[in-house]
Amino acid sequence: MVHIEVFSTSNKKLGEISVSDDAKVKEIKKEIAKICPKLYIDRQSIRSEAKGKDIRDDNVIETLQNTKKIFVKDLGPQIGWKTVFLLEYAGPFILYGLVSLRPWIFYGELAQHSTLSPTAKIALFCWSVHYLKRLVETLFIHRFSHGTMPIRNLFKNCGYYWGFCLYVAYHVNHPLFTPPSILMQISGFGLFVVCELGNLSIHLLLRDLRPPGTTVRRIPVPNNNPLTAMFNFVSCPNYTYEFGAWLGFTVLTSCLPAGIFALAGLYQMTIWALGKHKNYKKEFTNYPKRKAIIPFII
Ligand SMILES: NC(=O)c1ccc[n+]([C@@H]2O[C@H](COP(=O)([O-])OP(=O)(O)OC[C@H]3O[C@@H](n4cnc5c(N)ncnc54)[C@H](OP(=O)(O)O)[C@@H]3O)[C@@H](O)[C@H]2O)c1
Repeated sequence: MVHIEVFSTSNKKLGEISVSDDAKVKEIKKEIAKICPKLYIDRQSIRSEAKGKDIRDDNVIETLQNTKKIFVKDLGPQIGWKTVFLLEYAGPFILYGLVSLRPWIFYGELAQHSTLSPTAKIALFCWSVHYLKRLVETLFIHRFSHGTMPIRNLFKNCGYYWGFCLYVAYHVNHPLFTPPSILMQISGFGLFVVCELGNLSIHLLLRDLRPPGTTVRRIPVPNNNPLTAMFNFVSCPNYTYEFGAWLGFTVLTSCLPAGIFALAGLYQMTIWALGKHKNYKKEFTNYPKRKAIIPFII
């Protein structure tokens, strides 16, 4: 057994715990939760130095034998990932439908003598299918490695998705909305459908990489579904397809707010993809040569 002193990241001593010599971080977290009940397991991030990096649950702390001192960062109150995703995605699904199908709430008298244009109906179909797909994927496909995230992210993420939803829906469903040419509509809708199928294909492949109930990570490679061939070019093809779908939606509606939403998503997903790409290269020495999100470019 080893006795370890536990400190907060502001160097305040929280107490002492005893664990077996080869204890993993997960067991250390359980012991900390016993001496500090407020810091339940999902709320802790364990570090070997006050300003160090988070150490994953299945690791042993290498320096422990010498220092017998660890630091725990309080991540703040947590909320389950599934709850977060359901709130994030149910919001845009319901709000967009409300603007399309109950237009007088948003446009008043202007909406009384107008009907939804065929383009706006196709856009409503695309938007609803997208968020329904995400809800289903969250419930039945993704195998997340972390059970929770800080509750404050909920407000940030819901603000982003709900806000953009209202911004896009208001313009696409506006009684004065002018649809683009049929050619633009067909190409935009076609791109949207292919990218949604591509995104789903990648999520199914990622699900199959991880045995149920584990946090195993493997190098993703294409399977016999041709849409997964995007893995030959980038590390995060689900993000590539996600952007492609919103680009398709933008072409279909030719609406500036939709384009801004697509670019905002691309910006955020590029930051994440670069981080994930870097981690893959660090984690697997035999990681194949590919870009992060945009084939041959980023
Ligand atoms: N429009 C937007 O702004 C926007 C932004 C973000 C996401 N999205 C959409 O939401 C979807 C999900 O986003 P995400 O950020 O959660 O995607 P992600 O990080 O690629 O992860 C998807 C799932 O696959 C797992 N996974 C990833 N790489 C793995 C590997 N090498 N081995 C085993 N499992 C692996 C992840 O587990 P872990 O829990 O371990 O990561 C997670 O459960 C995206 O694909 C996209 O469609 C949209």
